[in-house]
Formats: sequence, structure tokens, C-alpha cells
Amino acid sequence: MTDSKALHQPIPLADASWRYVEKRSLDDYRADDWAVLIAQRKQYYDAHCVDHMLRLLTQQKDDLAYVYSVNNYYHCLQTATRMLRDDLPDEDVVVGLFHDVGFITCNQTHGEFSAALLRPYISEKNHWMLIRHAVFQQYHCHELDGCDRHERDKWKGHRYFDWTAHFVDQYDQRTINYDEEILPIGAFEPIVRRFLSEKQKPIVYE
Ligand SMILES: [Fe+2]
Ligand SMILES: [Fe+2]
Repeated sequence: MTDSKALHQPIPLADASWRYVEKRSLDDYRADDWAVLIAQRKQYYDAHCVDHMLRLLTQQKDDLAYVYSVNNYYHCLQTATRMLRDDLPDEDVVVGLFHDVGFITCNQTHGEFSAALLRPYISEKNHWMLIRHAVFQQYHCHELDGCDRHERDKWKGHRYFDWTAHFVDQYDQRTINYDEEILPIGAFEPIVRRFLSEKQKPIVYE
């Protein structure tokens, strides 16, 4: 087994004007320290959050395909491209862009992954849709053993049922084709930045 070892030096701060709080545990932090942490963290998040989110997608760009003629990155882009061309609001386009961002890393729970990622910014409608979109997709899976095409019907009558069915029917289940035009990620970056900078609501866990 490889021996563990400490880093040789502190990780450099992201801004030369910032400073470290050199306390060895959070128990040791006092008011002045928290003021430094809160100020620097906000600037750090503001500067890096969107880049990190986009990187979750862009790191999949060169992934190989497994059955469709596009990989997950291009599926997400193709979904967002269709939604943008249909003049949907920024929120829906951003949701389309990230709806499968966790598809490879947490396949079974990828809807919950993107719902959690976007929760501070999006409406209840899209949060509900993201969590359940994979179940709604089953409706489009014909002659697939073990797949209940009508599992989505347990939510029939719910106020977000139609939107979720529409998202899956018009976008998610159709955006798997290499020969359909796809806008580059750069076309969505300003939309993502604009949307994420405008809306963020506090999350309360019960
Ligand atoms: Fe999905
Ligand atoms: Fe998808």
C-alpha cells in the first residue's frame, strides 16, 4: 500500500488579494475568520460555479458511444438545441442542457442528480420533471422486456404530468441522432450564465 503524505505547501489562493485563515479546525474559527471565509467564498463561487457546471458536461465531449450515434454530451446539446429553437424560456433550455449530466456516473439516479444540481435556480415544475423524466421515457420503449411503458400513469392528473410527457416526447427521446444540427456549447454558455446569475433560492431541508 502506498504511504500517505501531506501536501508540500498550501494550495494557492484563487485571488492574490485574498488570505488564508490558518486555523486547524472549524471549531477554532471566530467572527473575523468567518467574515473572511464568507466574503472570499462568495467571490469564489461567483467566479467559478458556472465553469464547474459546464465542465461536468464538457468533460464528456470525447466519450465513446455505446449504442446511439451520439454520446451523452451531444444528446444533452441536441436536446437544448431543439428547446432553444422552439423559443422555450432560458430555464427550460438550461434544464434540457443539464438533464442527463449525471447519466454515466449515476445512471439510476441521474434525474435526481440534475434536479439537485439545478434546484436552487429552477421551478418546482422542472425539478419534478427532472426527477421523473426517466420513468416517463419508458412510455417510448416498445418491445422492451421488463419495461412498464405505462408506469408514468401513476402520476396522471398531476399538474406537471403534461410538461414532463412533452419534454420526453419532443426532446429527450428524439435527440439521439448524429445527423441533426447541434449548436455548440458556446451558444448556451451565455444563457447558462445569465440564468444562474439571476435566480437562486435558499434550500431548506425538513
Ligand atoms: Fe435521462
Ligand atoms: Fe436524456
